[in-house]
Amino acid sequence: MLVPVLLSGGVGSRLWPVSREAHPKQFQPLAGELSMLQETLQRTAGLDEAAPVVVCNEEHRFMVAEQLRQVGINAGALILEPAGRNTAPAVALAALQAIASDPEALLLVLPADHVIQDTAAFVAAVSKAVALAKEGRLMTFGVVPTHPETGYGYIKCGSGMGEDLYDLERFVEKPDSATASAYLESGNYLWNSGMFLFSAAAYLEELSRHAPEMLAACELAMASARQDMDFVRPDAEAFIACPADSIDYAVMEKTRLGAVVSLDCGWSDVGAWSALWDVAERDDGGNACRGDVILDNCQDSYFFSDSRLVAATGVADVVVVETADAVLVASKDKVQDVKRIVNALKEQQ
Ligand code: GDD
Ligand code: MG
Repeated sequence: MLVPVLLSGGVGSRLWPVSREAHPKQFQPLAGELSMLQETLQRTAGLDEAAPVVVCNEEHRFMVAEQLRQVGINAGALILEPAGRNTAPAVALAALQAIASDPEALLLVLPADHVIQDTAAFVAAVSKAVALAKEGRLMTFGVVPTHPETGYGYIKCGSGMGEDLYDLERFVEKPDSATASAYLESGNYLWNSGMFLFSAAAYLEELSRHAPEMLAACELAMASARQDMDFVRPDAEAFIACPADSIDYAVMEKTRLGAVVSLDCGWSDVGAWSALWDVAERDDGGNACRGDVILDNCQDSYFFSDSRLVAATGVADVVVVETADAVLVASKDKVQDVKRIVNALKEQQ
């Protein structure tokens, strides 16, 4: 059985003021009619898969349940974390849950905050990766890089293993800018899209090798988990004691079982406002607008209105985001720094 595992525990602070701790970006319709969580769920409908498992924060349980209901999808389980411990433990919880009912379960790990324009290409890449995953390989989905992004992992492809399939020679999570530029120029590296396919057993085996304390904490947390309808609550004390780390640092940089399937499906990690401009439909002046917006002589900008009319004239390369209680105005090439504003706001509280 192939279980889609949706990771939905992030906060998305660079998409402030729309994304907030209580209402993070993956629950909002930012790129289309549905939220990114709902679009991710629907994307898995083309696969012959088991019911999806969502791993999210305890505080978001009703929002997640309601979003699933809206798109008519029944979750196999909603695993509720008492606190975020990053992605490696989140995937471990899902692996332990899945392996209890099927020792051969495959997990398709999907961040709940990505945009994919070509679902058929995504489904085809997953299908190509299944055979190697069944053999115990940890499959990554590699995207051809377009710029020296330092917010992504980089994968060096080794020898070919089938159509669009390669051995994974090296995995480097979030390199510095000079290293990312060198990788881009070499032409030998792909971006790690952050999606993975592997058997639950292989993942847990690699955790026991590379992060045994994390595995022990997650095993303890799941051994005394409480189940209440679809909600699965790992033991809070055990899970809070778990070391925090991402799957990329804890496992993918260290494993020798990595492999890659190349992916060309209009993938985008909607990490910051400029990424929404990238994937949106634009007018003749290169502007993308959402909500009630009037423009005059503006270029290459992104406007988001939530509750009031937004009007702009004579500006270029800006991002303007209006919500009921806050307005963001930013230069389009500085939108990564919105994180600093959010941190400053937190300190004021
Ligand atoms: N349940 C749960 N718990 N989910 C989490 C947690 C957690 O503690 N932390 C993060 N997530 C979710 C986020 O909501 C997101 O959907 C996904 O896990 C990935 O986490 P990010 O924090 O967004 O990771 P990243 O973007 O910095 O890096 C990853 O993705 C890049 C591509 O978008 C890495 O895999 C990189 O290598 C990759 O290039
Ligand atoms: Mg991300």
